[in-house]
Amino acid sequence: MAKERTLTILKPDCVRKGLIGEVTKRIQEAGFSILAMKMTRLTKDTAGGFYAVHKERPFYDELCEFMSSGACVPMILEKENAIADFRELIGATNPAEADEGTIRADFADSVGENIIHGSDSVENGKIEGAYFFAESEVVANQA
Ligand code: TYD
Repeated sequence: MAKERTLTILKPDCVRKGLIGEVTKRIQEAGFSILAMKMTRLTKDTAGGFYAVHKERPFYDELCEFMSSGACVPMILEKENAIADFRELIGATNPAEADEGTIRADFADSVGENIIHGSDSVENGKIEGAYFFAESEVVANQA
């Protein structure tokens, strides 16, 4: 199976709850390599750009408020079958519907504040990775 890359974000609720270490440990134990990682804080505008596909949805404004409410930790991850495997590791968008043992089932409070992001396709993973990281910040791209 081919190696894929996915973009994750440990969202502001994950950072506020002191779960950066715990969640990162689960990601690494599941076999993902971290190729890039930083702590940053989105503005409402940059959060809005990231979630532009949801612009017309009723939850968009609240989502942008939440995503800009504190620090977050984006990472580029690599693994065979990374997109599907990572979605499985984090669980359904609504934590009430997420499978037992998934990151969202274990740590998230609500659909709006659900701890973690994962790209939904290889193509979107590339676009989202480039939203946060320059080529030179991706360790695997360095000589
Ligand atoms: P979406 O891309 O559907 O889910 P996922 O993060 O699992 O790929 O939605 C993006 C984010 O928007 C989601 O993580 C939380 C927020 N959201 C809501 O606040 N309410 C909703 O009803 C939905 C569907 C999403």
